[in-house]
Amino acid sequence: MPKSLPVIETSALETLLTPSMVIFRDRLLANLDSMLVMAGHPSRLRPHCKTHKMEQIVRLWVEQGVTKHKAATIAECEMLAAAGAKDVLLAYNPVGPNIGRVIALAAKFPACQFSVTTDHEKPLQLLSAAAAKAKVTIGVMLDVNVGMNRTGILPSDPAAVTLYVQASKLPGLRAAGFHIYDGHQRQTSLDDRKAAVAAQWPAVLELQQKCEAAGAPVPALACGGTPTFPCYAEMDHPGIELCPGTCVLHDTGYGTNFPDLPFEPAAAVVTRVVSRPANDRVTLDIGNKAVAADPPKGARVFFPELPDAVQDSHNEEHMGLITPDAERYQPGDVLFAIPMHICPTSALYDRVAIIDKGQVAEYWDVTSRNRKITI
Ligand SMILES: Cc1ncc(COP(=O)(O)O)c(C=O)c1O
Repeated sequence: MPKSLPVIETSALETLLTPSMVIFRDRLLANLDSMLVMAGHPSRLRPHCKTHKMEQIVRLWVEQGVTKHKAATIAECEMLAAAGAKDVLLAYNPVGPNIGRVIALAAKFPACQFSVTTDHEKPLQLLSAAAAKAKVTIGVMLDVNVGMNRTGILPSDPAAVTLYVQASKLPGLRAAGFHIYDGHQRQTSLDDRKAAVAAQWPAVLELQQKCEAAGAPVPALACGGTPTFPCYAEMDHPGIELCPGTCVLHDTGYGTNFPDLPFEPAAAVVTRVVSRPANDRVTLDIGNKAVAADPPKGARVFFPELPDAVQDSHNEEHMGLITPDAERYQPGDVLFAIPMHICPTSALYDRVAIIDKGQVAEYWDVTSRNRKITI
């Protein structure tokens, strides 16, 4: 657990509405540096923008020479391309009207190369027809199910080779490699995580050999998230792309579960005491509309100043704490909360305050928290 956060000067705190989200610029930059060091070279990174969703952070990556980026929504893809990304992977199988939106992205941003994932021939054929008609080329990564069982096709399934070969031949498409997301690998011990990744790897290699033997090259393998980042980072298999997202801002969920990772929480929610309804109680304005509510109730945030407070109630606009320190607090006092899960938390804010040397330096829009920007 992080023991403290950088200081925000009182004069700056007075200007911050609560609840609001802040990013500590030095911590953000340190996390980006650590990611680059772990990756070894900018060309090995394909960071996922789902955590921050902000153009300014993409621009920081672009300045560092990171050209490849990953997204989960069309709006995130659009935000990335508008911020200067040259190669954007939509790590989501487009279906329905999203097929047309992918084509519209490629038409609107010709300087950016777009790819999507696939695990079924029906949407693949629709994508091919639409891309060919619009005279654009969309990259396709085969979504390989290495055990998470969320999406993808099992590497042992003969249909995997057939589908990838199809992607290499259909008009308007380009076979771009494999997408290997293993969010189920959450072992706290780094050695155990490495062993789990090593165990799932031979099936991927076998699939790659079969696809290449069938005439479909596999130029890239987009692998993992934050927990398995160190595992893939030490591999030198050609074409490996490292796809962490959360560690850009990091959170207490990952900080606690994966102590080996060299990242620090760079974001917090600022909240104020709104009531002291009993001697041992403090009520804050950090309701479940202000911080992600997917972690279990009682563990949705961490308060560095009140590490042992019991998060007793959590309503839309209130969080009730039980703490023997309640008497130290008055209505209006500020507390900082580090979210357990930062990605859905940033999606709750239109903009975040960037804290530099204790002051609010600027505000950044969380552009792709919306489902649609223009496309
Ligand atoms: C497909 C995909 N890739 C990469 C990531 C990034 O993983 P993490 O949040 O662990 O950094 C995610 C996270 O949900 C994901 O769904």
